[in-house]
Amino acid sequence: MILSAKGLRKRYGGDPGVDAVISADLIVGAGEFVSIVGRSGSGKSTLLAMVGGLTAPTEGRVQLAGDEIWGLPEAQLADVRRERIGFVFQFPSLLPNLRAIDNVALPALLGEDVTPERAYARAQGLLARVGLSDRMTAFPGQMSGGEQRRVVIARALINEPQLLLGDEPTSDLDEETEEEIFALLDNLRREENFAMALVTHNHALAQRADRMFEMRQGILLPSDAPRAFVAAPIRRPEPPAPKTPAPVGADAGARDFEKLGKTLWATAGRIFAAAALMFVVASAANYGVARYQQYELDAGRQRLAALEELATSTLQSDIASITRLGEGRYEVTIYLENTKAEQPIYVMSPSVQGFVQVGVGWQEAPLTPIEDTTAAVLKVTGRQLYRFIFEARLTKFTELLPHYMHVRFSNNMLVSPESTPTNELFQRVDNYYVYLKPDNVDDATIAKDVRFPGPPPLWIWMPPH
Ligand SMILES: Nc1ncnc2c1ncn2[C@@H]1O[C@H](COP(=O)(O)OP(=O)(O)O)[C@@H](O)[C@H]1O
Ligand SMILES: [Mg+2]
Repeated sequence: MILSAKGLRKRYGGDPGVDAVISADLIVGAGEFVSIVGRSGSGKSTLLAMVGGLTAPTEGRVQLAGDEIWGLPEAQLADVRRERIGFVFQFPSLLPNLRAIDNVALPALLGEDVTPERAYARAQGLLARVGLSDRMTAFPGQMSGGEQRRVVIARALINEPQLLLGDEPTSDLDEETEEEIFALLDNLRREENFAMALVTHNHALAQRADRMFEMRQGILLPSDAPRAFVAAPIRRPEPPAPKTPAPVGADAGARDFEKLGKTLWATAGRIFAAAALMFVVASAANYGVARYQQYELDAGRQRLAALEELATSTLQSDIASITRLGEGRYEVTIYLENTKAEQPIYVMSPSVQGFVQVGVGWQEAPLTPIEDTTAAVLKVTGRQLYRFIFEARLTKFTELLPHYMHVRFSNNMLVSPESTPTNELFQRVDNYYVYLKPDNVDDATIAKDVRFPGPPPLWIWMPPH
């Protein structure tokens, strides 16, 4: 037997708390396929999270091939998650800047016992098995939803797990694709002989499992149990709404414009006098509060609270420097810094875009990495610098500060405390704002309109707004 979960219970929050799972026993044999259906909010994701080593049960135990996983120290539990369990979630969790093959190879590359050659060989084999031999070098953004899901499946299998857990892995796909992916999972299971527990909304597909369960208000039952089994309904609050993503694009521009427009001119004198000082501070660069956005990619919400800490306060980033290259080109250096160096943070290839404010909106201007960091997972232990070429050759732009462009750099990162990108990823979007001196205006012209203590600086750091 591969999985033996007994007497699982999960209570969220303090007194009285919410019983997400009241009672669940789940035993899955090697190579067996079980499905779990149930209404939304009935506790299915929580059950999978406990079984998959993501959320600690309040009561009960989980054994994987005889090993009690919830007794393990965190580092070993992380190894179990990476090496012995494969996860396929509903949300696409591929890293956008990595090619399909890199995404698949990643969990193996991050472990210590597999050589890159072997990792890539297996990744290639798996991509062929999921029908993507000709799409290995495609980026996720170039693939259909079904193709992306195939990549996720290949990635989940890269470390040859004993158990594959799927939390509604197909529910966002159209019916035909859902059927295809389901069949693919089932075939792979037969060939590779891993056990599989899938949560699904689709009863027809669920019935193809060796055994089918239903989660009813926190109680896991064989799906043919009489409906009257659960007598009194238990009231539970709705899950918290996901945080609104940080505004981008025209809306954000409009708001910035209003807010800045008012405050800027009201306090213009003070700001200009402080500009040189800000410039110095900005060069020192260890400054500024990152704005972030988070969303969860898995069911381990409790762990995410601790992670949030790590991904937000421990990881700092901002503009380190900007230098002029001429002809409207600039070299922009962004830093990432892990303030607790003893605990590495993994950042999946940051994707950074540059925008210049035009009217009340933002116009994108080309920003190209100088080194090829796009294929890398960055292990951040100290301070790391990333250099880009920014091409801002606009003739018309909004001058909140006379003659200067108002520039926003948006850095979209996936952050993880583990080298395992398959679970516990945070998306974090940082916006850095600067005023940037255009190439085609000379200092004397600027000096007529803005009184700087010295020559007009090339760039002026702005706090996030
Ligand atoms: N971190 C959490 N804190 C508090 N309540 C939670 C948390 N996660 C889930 N719940 C609650 O537990 C119940 C079961 O949730 P979940 O396992 O996500 O169900 P399902 O996957 O079946 O939709 C829901 O009422 C949900 O609101
Ligand atoms: Mg769920």
